[in-house]
Amino acid sequence: MSIQSTIKRKTAPDIRARKGGEPIVMLTSYHAHTAALVDRYCDAILVGDSLGNVMHGFETTVPVTLDMMILQGHAVMRGSKHALVVVDMPFGSYEASKEQAFHSAVRILKETHCGAVKLEGGVNRAAQIEAITQTGIPFMAHIGMLPQTVREEGGYRIKGRTQSEIGELLADARAVENAGAFSVVLEIVLAEVAKQITNTIDIPTIGIGSGEHCDGQILVTHDLIGLFPWFTPKFVSPEARVAEEIRRAARAFIERTRSIGT
Ligand code: KIV
Repeated sequence: MSIQSTIKRKTAPDIRARKGGEPIVMLTSYHAHTAALVDRYCDAILVGDSLGNVMHGFETTVPVTLDMMILQGHAVMRGSKHALVVVDMPFGSYEASKEQAFHSAVRILKETHCGAVKLEGGVNRAAQIEAITQTGIPFMAHIGMLPQTVREEGGYRIKGRTQSEIGELLADARAVENAGAFSVVLEIVLAEVAKQITNTIDIPTIGIGSGEHCDGQILVTHDLIGLFPWFTPKFVSPEARVAEEIRRAARAFIERTRSIGT
């Protein structure tokens, strides 16, 4: 006999159906407990490979491995009940071939039980995306500024400033839609261009630093709550100062401990 959950978790088709409707809310999480805290407010939670920067202290997301993503993806699934959980495919887990992309996506799905996977790229990754979606694995795309190639780019910069970049972004958006993505993250794309992409494709766009005309918004939770004070992207207005609270609590503990010793 099977035990059926009475709680219905959001699915990729639920997110897909929000095109042009109520804005989609998405945050990152990497642990069971932050997932439990943000779950009721989010339509989807991203287990982003940004965990390499904000949890592990790497300079870029490049060193993040598939095993790290699976471990944290599983934790987020344990902590959440309502939101669709999307797990990032890290650098090196899909670029070589569509077979590699397929095997990595299947591992993530089987070992975390998440609802969807995401990888970075557009036209250049259409074959990989098709291999994933044709297997029935829900897929979220990610175009614009791509953190996994930040070294090649020479830093984080806004995309869509030139006609050729606008043309490339539109081609990428169409390519991921045609390859079967149910939605697409637009990272640091000029607001007017993000609007044009949103009006061009039939799947929801989820912006990060890409203005207000997308179908939804995503932020790195560490940025939103001020838990990574060493760098805050220009487009983020933190709603809390958690790093300050940690420092304050540590100072209070030290003072209390010293006073016991005197
Ligand atoms: O890894 C991540 O957190 C992401 C977001 C920046 C969209 O991909």
